[in-house]
Amino acid sequence: MELEQAVKQRHSYRGAYIQEPVPRAHLQKIMEAGLAAPSGCNKQTVSLIGIDDAELLQRLLSVMDPPTCATAPALICVLTKHRIAYTDGNGVPRCYAVQDYSAAIENMLLTVTALGYASCWIEGHITDADMQGKRMAEMLGVPEDYELICVLPVGIPAEEFKIPRKRPFEMRAWFNGFPEKE
Ligand SMILES: Cc1cc2nc3c(=O)[nH]c(=O)nc-3n(C[C@H](O)[C@H](O)[C@H](O)COP(=O)(O)O)c2cc1C
Repeated sequence: MELEQAVKQRHSYRGAYIQEPVPRAHLQKIMEAGLAAPSGCNKQTVSLIGIDDAELLQRLLSVMDPPTCATAPALICVLTKHRIAYTDGNGVPRCYAVQDYSAAIENMLLTVTALGYASCWIEGHITDADMQGKRMAEMLGVPEDYELICVLPVGIPAEEFKIPRKRPFEMRAWFNGFPEKE
């Protein structure tokens, strides 16, 4: 699939998945795309754990509430490590971990789409007061200095995508300056 097509076709999928395993080679390809993303000062703050073991997958999915991807045949857990990229002129340490994992996730979502799978960036209840990510990290033996901040289900969708409405180009993007108020 062409990049432009993947960019346009990518959408968040929250429906059921066909019960067919995702080949390890595909999962690895998606994860490699994530690790190929840029990172601030090349600090490479993102790590990934692919889950394709059925029993482990069920244990991890059982933590998730709401069960947005309860039938997913594979999962990618996105981990971040707080690394200082540099200290700025005011002596303030700058960390680009959020930007780093965002770039990695988008690379993975586009690759998921290009390979014919569906996914969804699931971060809300993973990192909020529910701390579902912390419980998942414990199950996976993730060291304390890493945080599990997002999970990406991967699988063949069994239902139609629900495409959200987005504001048109002209309302959000311009050339050569912000438009003047009328
Ligand atoms: C930082 C971030 C966190 C998100 N967390 C969730 C989430 O926890 N659950 C969920 O269903 N979707 C989540 N999403 C997906 C958004 O809801 C989705 O991207 C948005 O509604 C636009 O739809 P689209 O992805 O189909 O273009 C998240 C997206 C981003 C960028």
